[in-house]
Amino acid sequence: MSSRPNAASQPRSRDYAAQARTYDYTRGASPTVVRALAKHLGPAEGRLLLDVGGGTGNYAQVFQARGFRVLVVDPEFEMIVHAARKVGPGRSAVADARSLPLPDASVDRAILVNVLHVIEDRPAAARELRRVLRGGPVVIADPTSDNAPLFVHEYFGVAPPGNPRLSSDDIERILRDAGFRRVVHEPFVYTDGVDGSLPALHTDRFHLAGSAYLRNTSFWHHLDEETRRKGLEALAHDLRSGALERRVRENFELAVERGHGTVFAAWP
Ligand SMILES: C[S@@+](CC[C@H](N)C(=O)[O-])C[C@H]1O[C@@H](n2cnc3c(N)ncnc32)[C@H](O)[C@@H]1O
Repeated sequence: MSSRPNAASQPRSRDYAAQARTYDYTRGASPTVVRALAKHLGPAEGRLLLDVGGGTGNYAQVFQARGFRVLVVDPEFEMIVHAARKVGPGRSAVADARSLPLPDASVDRAILVNVLHVIEDRPAAARELRRVLRGGPVVIADPTSDNAPLFVHEYFGVAPPGNPRLSSDDIERILRDAGFRRVVHEPFVYTDGVDGSLPALHTDRFHLAGSAYLRNTSFWHHLDEETRRKGLEALAHDLRSGALERRVRENFELAVERGHGTVFAAWP
């Protein structure tokens, strides 16, 4: 595997290049998510695990330590530079989920963590995953419309950016249409904030109200300077008054019922 970029695989948005510089200050591998993935991945036994949209390689690094041989792919070169340092030479490549530089039936397992919702053509990505997998499963952790909604957007007066959330049933249908014959899914609740994703930040009022954490989310990169300033002021106000603590608690109670995200496992 080469870690060189090629023009065809560059992402449209450059915000991940900016995020890559500070990503690991606030974003690691969440024990909550690792547990949820590991439940379906089974024993490592030297199997080859593909981490699609693996970013700076935090989840791949954990599963490599657990005995998997890993490959990290991500369309953002700046992300892959960090991943390559963690997982070692020849274990990462610049590539898009919709066009994986791998032969048919060449990987044993695959993971996508907080990635599916940023891919525009999810059916194409699902077909590529099905093509490269032997055995399986692919295990996907992602927020869906069935999970607890986020509220931080309200402070910035903007709608959540990017693709609308799909329901769990929609995602299951995409996976089945791509040729996955068995699909299971269940919600998960963050009991730690380690991966610093927007849903995880909703478990901690101090993380939510601070730009150090928000800047490593795509949400932040869609805001202009003035909108950021006003939103942070509003968050600071509610942090002082105690209103933010209440909202975080209520949101957590909702997440206990509906999950912060959903884990899907799909077998060819
Ligand atoms: C929120 S980050 C998650 C990174 C990593 N999985 C983690 O949990 O730390 C989303 C990642 O998806 C990558 N990405 C964006 N579009 C993609 C695509 N079409 N195919 C694969 N990865 C993509 C981004 O470059 C970014 O690294």
